[in-house]
Amino acid sequence: MTLPSVLITRRIPDSVLQRLEPHCRIDLYRGDGAIPAAELHARLSGKRGLMCLLTDRVDAAVMDAAPELRIVANIAVGYDNIDCAAARARGIVVTNTPDVLTEATADFTWGLILDVTRRVSEGERLVRRGAWRGWALDFMLGTDLRGKQLGVVGMGRIGRAVAARAGAFGMRVAYSTVDAGGPFAGPHGEPYAAMCLDELLTSSDVVTFHVPLTPQTRHLVNRRSVLRLKRGAYIVNTSRGPVIDEEALAWALGEGLLAGAALDVYEREPAIHPDLLRLERVVLAPHLGSATVETRTAMADLAARNVIAVLAGGAPLTPVPA
Ligand code: DGY
Repeated sequence: MTLPSVLITRRIPDSVLQRLEPHCRIDLYRGDGAIPAAELHARLSGKRGLMCLLTDRVDAAVMDAAPELRIVANIAVGYDNIDCAAARARGIVVTNTPDVLTEATADFTWGLILDVTRRVSEGERLVRRGAWRGWALDFMLGTDLRGKQLGVVGMGRIGRAVAARAGAFGMRVAYSTVDAGGPFAGPHGEPYAAMCLDELLTSSDVVTFHVPLTPQTRHLVNRRSVLRLKRGAYIVNTSRGPVIDEEALAWALGEGLLAGAALDVYEREPAIHPDLLRLERVVLAPHLGSATVETRTAMADLAARNVIAVLAGGAPLTPVPA
């Protein structure tokens, strides 16, 4: 029996390759960086499975390059890089990697919150350029989190995991959902305040975004909504870059309307708006939310298990919502 062919668009852990090997013939792209679009088209021909990353645009034309394609397994929880309607129309299953990256991403979000409010990266840059003149009572003061409000936009798995950690820092939680959901409460039953986005923006000291990228969430932070933010608030984004209009954010930071921002994702990765690069009170991380050995291995492994299940004629483990 001929094993089905699967294209994998980036190097993945050996343990995951070993899991796949008995079930399929693997065509692994070994280049550095994302597979070029033309190569994706060419190598997908004849494939029944595709394991891809958020840096691969999988649209109708790509799918048409592989009429036998049965599954697109994204190694990411977000799947805005895939045209799911086109996949559905062609009978192709799309899967993502929920759950396995929730805790790592929530931990990282808190890393960013602490970094920007306590000016860690800014201080580190200062030390490295030799500008530190020693301890002073009023030097590089940040902001206490205790007693402040964390505004969580999006209460999916990651938003809830971020909210669940707020008590450890003495913060109360307010949330806003893009779809109906809730009510939500903390790990000890403490109620969270449900708010519309506008109320959340005007009342929160730190606003953190955990929404998928959809037409509805694109530029949730824009020239208009940025003015609704509480003066001196902080913005944190570990979801998808286009949720924030970088131009508007840079403008608000430059005008001193916000105290700072911490971003892990960008509108045109890996490019970053030049004004953000110039601003000191901005922490810029290179899309590291889920970047631990354990989590990235678990993500690749879940994608592989989806491929194996579907190519064996079974149900996908984690199909994207219809
Ligand atoms: C995801 O899985 O969508 C993340 O952005 C990758 O870290």
